[in-house]
Amino acid sequence: MKILIKSGHAVDPSNGLNEITDILIINGKIKETGSGLTVKADMVIEAEGLHVFPGLVDAHCHLREPGQEYKEDIASGTKAAAKGGFTAIACMPNTNPVADNDAVIKFIANKAAECGSTKVYPIGSITKGSNGSQLAEMGFMKEAGAVAVSDDGKPVESADIMRKALEYSKDFGLPVISHCEEMSLAEDGSINEGFLSTSMGLKGIPTVAEEIQVARDVLLAEYTGISVHIAHISTVGSARIIRDTKNRGVKVTCETCPHYFSLTEAECEGFNTNAKVNPPLRADSDRLAIIAAIKDGTIDMIVTDHAPHHRDEKNIEFQYAANGISGFETALSAAYTYLVKSGRISLEKMVELMSLNPAAFLGKSTGGLKVGACADITVVNLNDENTVNGEEFVSKGKNTPFTGKKLSGSVMYTIVNGKLTYNRSL
Ligand code: DOR
Ligand code: ZN
Repeated sequence: MKILIKSGHAVDPSNGLNEITDILIINGKIKETGSGLTVKADMVIEAEGLHVFPGLVDAHCHLREPGQEYKEDIASGTKAAAKGGFTAIACMPNTNPVADNDAVIKFIANKAAECGSTKVYPIGSITKGSNGSQLAEMGFMKEAGAVAVSDDGKPVESADIMRKALEYSKDFGLPVISHCEEMSLAEDGSINEGFLSTSMGLKGIPTVAEEIQVARDVLLAEYTGISVHIAHISTVGSARIIRDTKNRGVKVTCETCPHYFSLTEAECEGFNTNAKVNPPLRADSDRLAIIAAIKDGTIDMIVTDHAPHHRDEKNIEFQYAANGISGFETALSAAYTYLVKSGRISLEKMVELMSLNPAAFLGKSTGGLKVGACADITVVNLNDENTVNGEEFVSKGKNTPFTGKKLSGSVMYTIVNGKLTYNRSL
């Protein structure tokens, strides 16, 4: 199979690329780059006016299989991811059963290899059943294909278990991803704590519930000398704590999601459950602090936290509705619109945040767009403007607070291992 991408604007800071070039793909690899390539290919992508990125990589999503296929499954989730420009995604273990052992990890990896439209890297749980009490068998999970461990969806409440998780995971080279939420403060909350939560009569989740645990986990990282990765940061304080920690030379990493730099708690007005997510959408000052932390390198990557839910789990009273946003199909356009088009970061930086850094974090760098690299490629039209409609999502989860918002940047083609996995024109 030969694919020739003609005259696209390639952006790949890992190879110092920011120029118009042709890219020839043969048998899954980038064979040649340069202008005026004239090889006879099976498929020619006329990419004039389009941008070409190393394939986007999502280090945090939920595919719901096994056990909650009514929300999403590996086939539908990876199809949605491919539409979002992702060539590889790492899925969280809060499935049913929880991915806390080698059998479930293997099941996910095998199923994805069979029917996936993207590469899928399973994340195993930190504790058995993600119950927070007994460490899972990390070595077996690693052998089965796990790339990291996390109890995402829940915090590891015991500092002692978290410390042991860091120490144990190090033996297997598995990064620990921490969902930070101090439950005595956050319990029963369903929206950011503040004027809005009071006026809506809902129990709030204070920013400090997140920050206390961020502080605890970076202190544990410092004490043990073992890096921790903080999931989905959403507040001024989390950004500040992580910035200070990094400035002191302590190794930690963190991520945020498009909704935390694009939207605020105001989206919840009118009891819009599609804006209910954990951690909750915050105040505008938090949103701006997240953007500042993206700009200054405090935040290492943008992840989707794609969390599809069935409409019956969203069309209910706000406090009972499920937490989560279906994120694959708006991630690139939200990042482009709110970060790049608005002049806050460069296109190169966006590629680092959504492709290079998450790939490196997962130990899965492919070499970007250089000759010889694995052909995982995303082709986008940054000038295309669309009004989001969750009902048009490929994902089973139509739950998005971006419905009705105008975003720029459409994924045109996604290529994984040299094969087309998404083509917008079809
Ligand atoms: O909003 C969220 N949804 N936050 C989480 O931590 C878990 C996720 C889910 O699994 O639905
Ligand atoms: Zn998550």
